[in-house]
This record gives sequence, structure tokens and C-alpha cells, in this order.
Amino acid sequence: MANQDDLFKKITSHCKEYGFIFQSSEIYDGLAATYDYGPYGILLKNNIKDYWWKSMVQMHENIVGIDAAIFMHPTTWKASGHVDAFNDPMLDNKDSKKRYRADVLIEEYMDKIEAKINKEITKAKKRFGDAFDEEQFRATNPRVLANTEKKDNIAARLAKAMTDGDMDDLKAQIEEYGIVCPASGSRNWTDVRQFNLMFSTQLGAVAGEEGKLYLRPETAQGIFVNFLNVQKSSRQKLPFGIAQIGKAFRNEIVARQFIFRMREFEQMEMQFFIKPGTQMKWYEYWKESRLKWHKAIGHESENLRFHDHDNLAHYADAAVDIQFNFPFGFKELEGIHSRTDFDLASHQEHSGKKLQYFDPETKESYIPYVLETSIGCDRMFLATISHAYTQEMVPDSKGGEAERTVLKIHPALAPIKCAVLPLVKNKPELTEKARKIFDSVKAYFDCQYDEKDAIGRRYRRQDAIGTPYCITVDFETLEDDTVTIRERDSLAQERIPISKIAEIVKERTDMAALFVG
Ligand code: GAP
Repeated sequence: MANQDDLFKKITSHCKEYGFIFQSSEIYDGLAATYDYGPYGILLKNNIKDYWWKSMVQMHENIVGIDAAIFMHPTTWKASGHVDAFNDPMLDNKDSKKRYRADVLIEEYMDKIEAKINKEITKAKKRFGDAFDEEQFRATNPRVLANTEKKDNIAARLAKAMTDGDMDDLKAQIEEYGIVCPASGSRNWTDVRQFNLMFSTQLGAVAGEEGKLYLRPETAQGIFVNFLNVQKSSRQKLPFGIAQIGKAFRNEIVARQFIFRMREFEQMEMQFFIKPGTQMKWYEYWKESRLKWHKAIGHESENLRFHDHDNLAHYADAAVDIQFNFPFGFKELEGIHSRTDFDLASHQEHSGKKLQYFDPETKESYIPYVLETSIGCDRMFLATISHAYTQEMVPDSKGGEAERTVLKIHPALAPIKCAVLPLVKNKPELTEKARKIFDSVKAYFDCQYDEKDAIGRRYRRQDAIGTPYCITVDFETLEDDTVTIRERDSLAQERIPISKIAEIVKERTDMAALFVG
């Protein structure tokens, strides 16, 4: 665990040092759980959004996009259930005066039990070597069995308390498990109370409750209220989807783990409108489809898993998370929810406007059911960068070895696709040639020119930001118009003509490759 903590710290400081992510308002000591994306961060984030958007909208004839406003009519949030039910159970520690989410304290307690189980497994793996059978060990080792049962019982009790809204039992659990405040170390807790997560603000000159507006806590509602506008204007028939990428805001009580849980974040959501009764078929379809999307960029099966929701949100009849193995363990990356007709039916009731679909095949009108896929763009960013961050030994120029830090980001998502580097700085014939090459390719992809420092250091800088290809301009270039192209992960170098650079780099970093084959 200590090693994973260490890794997470290294990733967060790498993000700052190399211009991916900065603490918001850092010069004023920062604002908790809000972050700004720097020069490379915004390029990577845009590529992640592009990958998601293309996979949804470009690759599906029956999915179209929208960009709805962040502010919505306040009744939207009454109809969606967020005013009454979008709450977190919270409690304060009377000594440290710090506020916590009761369910998160209990989940962290369960993580500690899981860490004990993993420690036993790691020890046994070492002891038995190749002969180790993890499944059998989990099924027979008494300590692992006892801890697994303990964890499962706590998970079931937590889920029940959350579903029932039983604040007393959440408090009782915290006391029974002897959970202490991480800041003060004391067990001096207040009662658990419900806390609404929506941020509110005031509309123009309208005073009081009437002018109260909410910052949207999910982008989905902008899709629901536009359902008929989009269906009619784009002449879609069921099943069809509406996709959207945009900011969402939640007044998270426990806002930490860097960009994992933020108060202002971005969602990529798609609502798929379907005929009632077909929801389980589409639920399975979207589970598979979304998992494939994650794997296509190199995220391995062992770092991804499905986790069925223990307690369903107020709108869902089935829900599953795709969890990713972050440096702090498996946590939710994406949600797939079968939302029934909850939202459309409720908006129909609250607005008095019919939100029904006329089915040309059955000649019936009905409120469609909805299958939702919802992923946080920032969480996907964290998953991508955690997966990519690698420290390894590579051959150096003197025949020895040197350590390098490299971001092995999939080339299609990498912020900079290619860097053009003259071998040395003080030879104008090389720098001029390299600049010319840079100018001739920069229109085709994000590209960088760099002449400062020795070539080895410049390679390291490009490795650190995940640039998949470096083009080196040397004395041979002046003679035969060829350059070397160095591949980030294998370090392989090949000689190619200048006239082919754009074509080769474009082809090897093309996002289309993620969708075909
Ligand atoms: N429309 C459904 C919905 O909003 P959710 O599970 O609350 O469902 C969906 O959120 C996704 O949004 C999550 O899987 C996560 O990736 C992201 N997300 C939620 N809260 C977040 C936060 N505070 N910071 C960053 N990402 C968040």
C-alpha cells in the first residue's frame, strides 16, 4: 500500500511538473477539489473527449450530440429527484471539526480489510512461487476467508442502510467498527445527517426561492428535457441515443484523491432511448461496448472490472460500475444505468408536456425507457495517466543504463504526436532544416520543436509528456533528406524520408485505428 501511495504522489507531482494539471487558484493556496488543466493536460483531455465522442456519435448512425446549458429551469431538479434525494450522509468529528461522508468512512474501513487479504495473498504468492493457485488459496485460507466474510457482511449492511436512508445505523456502524477521525484520531462523532450535494445560485434580480438556480449535478437532465426536440429534428426512431459532454458540479464532502473526486468536473453521458421491456438486452450491450472502449486503448482486463451497485440510485432498476484499478485501488470510473422511464415520466408530470414517442411499427405512443452510460472525463484522465506512468531502466548513450520516466499513453490520445529535434543546437544548417520540417508537418497534428539541451535530455522530456515519436535531424539529413524516427516505448529508430514524416506519424497516431478491426 505504501508503494501505491508513493506511486500516486509521483503521478500527481508529475502532472504538475510537466504542465498537465495545476491546483486551481494555487497562488491563493488553492481551492479544495478544483483543478486547472495545463498545456499538455488540455490536449490529453481533448483527445479523451474526442475518442469518446467519435465512438458514440461518429460510429453510431443512431446517436446524435447536443450541448445543453448548465443552468436549467429549477423544476428540472425537483422532477429529477435531485432536490429531495441527491444527498450524502455526513457527520462531523467534534474534535477536529472536520466533516466526513459516513459511507466513505465505512468503505475505507473495508479497504483496510481488503488490504489485509491482499497482503496474505502477496505473502503466499512469494512462498509458493509458480505453484500458487490464488483461487484455491482464497477459498481455503482461514484468515482470508474470515476477512472476506467480514467485508461482505459490512458491504451488505452498508448497502441496506444507504438504501433505507438509515442514518442511525450508519452512525452505529462507525461506532461498532471503532472508526476514528483521520485528522484528530478521536471517536467523538456527531450524528449522521443528510446533506444535499447541489450548488445553488441566484437568478438575476429575482429574490428568494423563486430565483434559486442550481448548477447541474449531472449533464443527463439536459438530454431528457430535449428528448422530443432532438428526436423530431433529427428524425430518429427508437432505439436512438443522445450524447453530451459538459461540466457538472457537486458539493462533495469528501473531495480528495486529486482529480478523482472534484466539485467541478466534466461528464461524458449518453442516454439511449429504447422500447420498454428491452432494457436488459441494451444493458448487456452497453456493458460490453463500454468495456471494449476502455480496452482498445491498452487498459488491460485485469485493471478493469464490473461492480454491480449494492444500492440503486432513485432512478435505476439495474446499475453497474466499470471500476478501474487506480493507484489507490479499484474504484468507479464509469456507470451504466438502466433508468427506466423515471426521468421522462417525471418531466412529463412536472411540465404538463407530453414526452411520448409514437412507434410507427406498433402505432402506439409511449414513454421510452432509457439506458445510460456515464463517465467522468477527469476520472478517465486519471485512469489514462496512472496506467501510462512508467519508470524503467533503458540503455544510455555510454553503453550503460539510465532510469527514465515515460508516459506510455496510447498514441491516438497522446498530447503531442511528434517532436522535431535538431541533433545539436549550434549548427544553423541543422536548426534551420529542422524548423522547416517542423513547419511542414505542424498542420497535421500537435507537434513540437525543441533544440535546447543535449539530445538525450530532449528525448527524456518528450518521454515524460508521452510523445510517441521523435524526429531527429542530423548531418545525414543534409545530404539525403532523411531523418530518424524514434518510437517512445521500444526506443526503435528507423530512417525515413522527410517527405514521408507527416504520412507515417498521422497513420501511426490515427484515432480511426481504435474503431476499425
Ligand atoms: N447521470 C448519472 C450520473 O451522474 P454518477 O455515477 O453520479 O451518475 C457518473 O456519475 C460518473 O461521473 C462517475 O462514474 C464518475 O466517473 C463521474 N463523477 C461523479 N462524481 C464525480 C466527481 N465528484 N468528480 C469527478 N468525477 C465524478
